[in-house]
Amino acid sequence: MTVLIAYATTEGQTRKIARFCADHLIARGLSVELLPLADLEDEDHVDMARFDAAILAGSLHGMRLQPQLVRFAARHAAALNDRPGLFLMVSLAAAGNDPQEHKDLARLSSEFAETSGWAPGKVVHVAGAFRFTQYDFFKSLAMRWIAHSKGEVVDPHADREYTDWAALADLMARWPDAGPKG
Ligand SMILES: Cc1cc2nc3c(=O)[nH]c(=O)nc-3n(C[C@H](O)[C@H](O)[C@H](O)COP(=O)(O)O)c2cc1C
Repeated sequence: MTVLIAYATTEGQTRKIARFCADHLIARGLSVELLPLADLEDEDHVDMARFDAAILAGSLHGMRLQPQLVRFAARHAAALNDRPGLFLMVSLAAAGNDPQEHKDLARLSSEFAETSGWAPGKVVHVAGAFRFTQYDFFKSLAMRWIAHSKGEVVDPHADREYTDWAALADLMARWPDAGPKG
């Protein structure tokens, strides 16, 4: 089985997540192609016929996913809908327990499916990270304020990861599950 993992990242956490998933699938004997969507030119052709299943991953910034992820899902929706599909949506809201934020995540992933036309068999909300080492002054200020408002004490010179790697490893040990769309 050959799996496509296409991802969009802004500060790098989703890249780390995508690579982690790739390593785990490869360890199971699957073939994996990692596709960083930022490197994809509009006219680049991706032959979906080569893939038996696909994972798409992207992260939230200001309640929005990266536009290149939405474009890619829309362009390949028909082929993606024919294969087991997993959408990994990375955010900080997924790290907390705020019911309103979790409702927002569910709404945003449904909107993504509607806008793109891709209906993944499985959607998983993955907790991301504060990546202070990647932020400019203003982003750092904004993220410190967000951390403070959530009662988190963060070191503005270090990254803080919330990603549950054990849960992801567990998911990669069994995905795609038996069933028509994984
Ligand atoms: C400027 C900015 C805006 C963000 N907006 C949101 C948001 O609206 N909702 C959320 O849950 N997380 C938000 N986050 C957190 C990111 O989703 C989180 O840091 C994630 O790990 C980023 O993944 P990436 O490094 O792959 O881009 C934001 C982060 C930054 C830096």
